[in-house]
Amino acid sequence: MCGIVGAVAQRDVAEILVEGLRRLEYRGYDSAGVAITDDQGQLTRVRRLGKVAALSDAVAASHPTGGTGIAHTRWATHGEPSEANAHPHMSGNDIAVVHNGIIENHQTLREQLQARGYQFDSQTDTEVIAHLVDWEMQQGGDLLNAFQRTVDQLEGAYGTVVMDRRQPERLIAARSGSPLVIGLGVGENFLASDQLALLNVTRRFIYLEEGDVADISRREVTIYNQEGTPVEREVNEASAQYDAADKGQYRHYMQKEIYEQPTALTNTMEGRLGNDHVIVDAIGNGASDILAKAQHIQIIACGTSYNAGMVARYWFESLAGISCDVEIASEFRYRQFVTRPNSVLITLSQSGETADTLAALRLAKERGYMATMAICNVAGSSLVRESDLAFMTRAGTEIGVASTKAFTTQLSALLMLVTALGKMQGRIGRDKEREVVDALHHLPSSIEQALTFDKAIEQLAQDFADKHHALFLGRGEYYPIAIEAALKLKEISYIHAEAYAAGELKHGPLALIDADMPVIVIAPNNELLEKLKSNIEEVRARGGQLYVFADQDAGFTPEEGMKIIAMPHVDDIIAPVFYTIPMQQLSYHVALIKGTDVDQPRNLAKAVTVE
Ligand code: AGP
Ligand code: GLU
Repeated sequence: MCGIVGAVAQRDVAEILVEGLRRLEYRGYDSAGVAITDDQGQLTRVRRLGKVAALSDAVAASHPTGGTGIAHTRWATHGEPSEANAHPHMSGNDIAVVHNGIIENHQTLREQLQARGYQFDSQTDTEVIAHLVDWEMQQGGDLLNAFQRTVDQLEGAYGTVVMDRRQPERLIAARSGSPLVIGLGVGENFLASDQLALLNVTRRFIYLEEGDVADISRREVTIYNQEGTPVEREVNEASAQYDAADKGQYRHYMQKEIYEQPTALTNTMEGRLGNDHVIVDAIGNGASDILAKAQHIQIIACGTSYNAGMVARYWFESLAGISCDVEIASEFRYRQFVTRPNSVLITLSQSGETADTLAALRLAKERGYMATMAICNVAGSSLVRESDLAFMTRAGTEIGVASTKAFTTQLSALLMLVTALGKMQGRIGRDKEREVVDALHHLPSSIEQALTFDKAIEQLAQDFADKHHALFLGRGEYYPIAIEAALKLKEISYIHAEAYAAGELKHGPLALIDADMPVIVIAPNNELLEKLKSNIEEVRARGGQLYVFADQDAGFTPEEGMKIIAMPHVDDIIAPVFYTIPMQQLSYHVALIKGTDVDQPRNLAKAVTVE
C-alpha cells in the first residue's frame, strides 16, 4: 500500500506532487510517477523506477506545467517493479489513474476489456481501472458516473484517483479499504493517502469514509456515499507534525515514539488486512508463491530486532506449523551453518543498514536459501534493496536509539506474515485467520489502553533508581519480551538487567535473588500461568522483590515483597505486543530518574553500520 497525492489548483502543481511523494517515502516503494494536465488539456506523464529523487530529477528536467495532477509511489503487488508498471496508468491519451491496494478480480476485468479491444501496456491490476473508466465513459454519462460504475465492478481493498485530460480542473477519487484524505485549500484542493503528504499546503482535511466517491475541483468538493447519495463529511484541523524531528509535547524522541505506536501499528497494517482476512498479495510481488513453498524459516537480526524474531518463532511454529530458527546475525555469519531445503531467510531490521545483518544476508544468498525477505522500516535501505522481498513496517522515522515503535510494528508485520504463510499452506483455517485478524484490528486500541498505565509505572520506577541489577522473567513468547525489556532497561538506564525463561531460574539464577534484586515478571493469563506462579513463589521464598505485570484475571493479589500491576485482558495472540508497552515505559521512567541521555545513550548508535 503506497502513496497517492493529487491536486487541483490554479498554480503549477508538479512540485507539490513530488514533495508529497517524498513525504510518503517512509512507507516503502519501488517506483513512482506523476501525470499533470494543463488548462488546455495537455497531459504529461513522468514515471521512474527507484527513488522519488529520480522522479524529481525527471520532473524538474521536463518541467510539466498544469494545475491538475495525480502522483503515486508504488509497492508492487502485480507486475514487477518497472517504469512500465509504475503509476499513473492510462487508457489511450485521456484517462490517467493511480491506485493503492489490490483489485482482486483484475484478471477477469482484464480479459473482458481485452475482448473489447483494449491493449494493456502493463502487468498491473491497476490498469484495468483506467480502461474500465474509458469504457464506461463511452457508455454514456460523465466522468463521475463512469467512475462510479467502474468502482462498482472492482473487488478488493483499494484507494484510487482518476483524471481525464478532457476535463482539467477535476479529480475523482474512491476509497474502499485504503485511506484517502482531501486537503482543502483556497481556490485549490488536494488529495492524498496520508495527510502527512499535504501538511505543507493545508491543515484542513476531510477523511473519506469506506465506499465514498469524491468529485474534486478547485472550488468545490462533492462527496457521495456507497449508495451514490451526496453526503457532508466533517472538516478536521490537522494536528500531526510531519517533521519526525519535532518532539512536539514530548520530552524525548523515545517518549514520543512510545506514544506513536498505535498510529505506527495502524499504518503498518493498513491495506494488508481485510475485515476478516490477511491480503496475501499485499505482502509483495511474488510473495504468495514463496510462502506456499517455504519449508523452513530462518530469522536473522540483531538487538531488539532479534528479540522480535524470537517472539515470531513461537508464532511460526504454533500458528503456521512451520519450523523456525532465529539467530543473531554476528553469530550466524561466522558459523558453518547448514541450509535446509526450501528455506526462507527473513532479516529483521529497523535501519536496514546493520552491518552484521547485511553480511548475514549476503552470505545466505550464496548458500542456497530459496528466497530472502527483509522486514524493515527504511524503504531505500541496503537490506531492502538486496532482498528478494521486503515487507515494510511503517513506524515512521525512529530517532530514539532505544527501539520502541519499530519493535512493535515488526511484531505486527510478523504476525501478518505468519498468518499469510499458514493460510497459503493450509495450516491456518478461516476461523483461526479471522481470530488473528480480529485481534490485529484491536491491537492499536489495546496499545492505547496500555499507554494509560504510564503514571502508575512512573511511580513504580522510583523503586529501581538505586538498584544496580534487575531480573526479567517470562515464559513462552513472553520470554523474548522479557529479554527486550531487559535490553531497554540496560541500554538507557545503564542498570545491569538480565532476562530468563522463568522455568530456568532454579538452574542457577536463583542464587542471585535477594532484597536488592528486583524481579519483574510478565504474567499473561495463559496456559503457562500456573507454572509461572510456581516460579514466582521460588523468588518470594528467597526474599526477592517482585513486580508482576499480570492479566487482571490471573488471580494475583498483592503480598509482602510483591507488587501487582493488573493489566486489562487482551487476546493472547497480541498480548506479547501489549505487554511490551509497560516494559518500555518502565525503562523510560527509570532512565529519567537516573538522568541518563535517553535518546542518545552512552556508547550506542542508532544504526550499527560497522562490525
Ligand atoms: C535496540 O533498542 C537497539 N537500538 C539495538 O539493539 C538495535 O535493535 C540493533 O542495533 C539492530 O538495529 P536494526 O534493527 O536497525 O538492525
Ligand atoms: N496493486 C497495484 C500495483 O501492483 C498497487 C500497489 C500499491 O499499493 O502500490 O501496481
